Amino acid sequence: MTASPVVFADRMLSLGLARVSEAAAMASAKLIGRGDEKAADQAAVNAMRNQLNLLDIAGTVVIGEGERDEAPMLYIGEEVGTGNGPEVDIALDPLEGTTLTAKDMPNALTVIAMAPRGTLLHAPDVYMDKLAIGPGYPKDVVSLEMGPRARVEALAKAKGVAPGDITVCVLERPRHEDMIAEIRSTGAGIRLITDGDVAGVIHCAEATTGIDMYMGSGGAPEGVLAASALKCMGGQMWGRLTFRNDDERGRAAKAGIKDLDRIYARDEMVQADVIFAATGVTDGSIVQGIQREPGYLTTETILMRSKTGSVRRMIYRNPVERVDA
Ligand code: FBP
Repeated sequence: MTASPVVFADRMLSLGLARVSEAAAMASAKLIGRGDEKAADQAAVNAMRNQLNLLDIAGTVVIGEGERDEAPMLYIGEEVGTGNGPEVDIALDPLEGTTLTAKDMPNALTVIAMAPRGTLLHAPDVYMDKLAIGPGYPKDVVSLEMGPRARVEALAKAKGVAPGDITVCVLERPRHEDMIAEIRSTGAGIRLITDGDVAGVIHCAEATTGIDMYMGSGGAPEGVLAASALKCMGGQMWGRLTFRNDDERGRAAKAGIKDLDRIYARDEMVQADVIFAATGVTDGSIVQGIQREPGYLTTETILMRSKTGSVRRMIYRNPVERVDA
């Protein structure tokens, strides 16, 4: 008799994933506003790793803290979990927005996604040119091949509004100055963010943010995490890796990427059902940041499954003694 394959029991695993994300956020709480990016990140990494190793999974980190020689924990290829359970790929960013945390600015999150083994894009640590829109539009209504003006005009037409009624979210960086000028020339508004483009992409799928489209370049690992979130919430996304030098091209080769110019659609970055959890560190538009009161820390986590499209928001009030234990 052949053993039946271990199924990706995402329904139960998702609750464990939320715990992992919560633990990372609580660990970085005491470093909010302390001006030390590295310490905040390290606290989140340690806590995330400890919690991940309690899960009954045979997990491999495919998006993590970096290559093995530069990241001692949660490096790409690290095996996590008890080993007793489904074989899964893990994409994580224990602290998405290290500077936001250090400066106590909005929208710092802990982020993690899990999917069956071999189904998440092994994106190297390079930049990715990203484009995302929310749900409800015809397939490929905008594309990475279009310029910023054409994207705004095509989306406005599909939405049945004027270009001036479109809002685009963009990372505020010198490299985006021309793109910003071109978007503004259409009359569209721009929501500039200083960091945190996973949240920027997620905003496209949440009507209350007023953001219609995300565009610009940011971290490729964050691109896969954002694609995981959009696969749960609905919405389209595309990404193309960009390289500044041979070292970065080498990272892509090491990750098994052959076509360096390829455009990945959302479901090419995330090829099967995925679960996604993010917990607020500082207050943000997706989830609240950590709340402190004497003896307790309270977190808010958004937990989503692509199989069902379910989006859960979980409030967790934790006695501080346990956090510091
Ligand atoms: P960190 O949390 O690693 O600092 O990343 C924050 C971030 O803003 C990401 O959201 C984004 O993808 C990337 O940095 C952009 O990179 P850069 O700051 O080099 O433009």
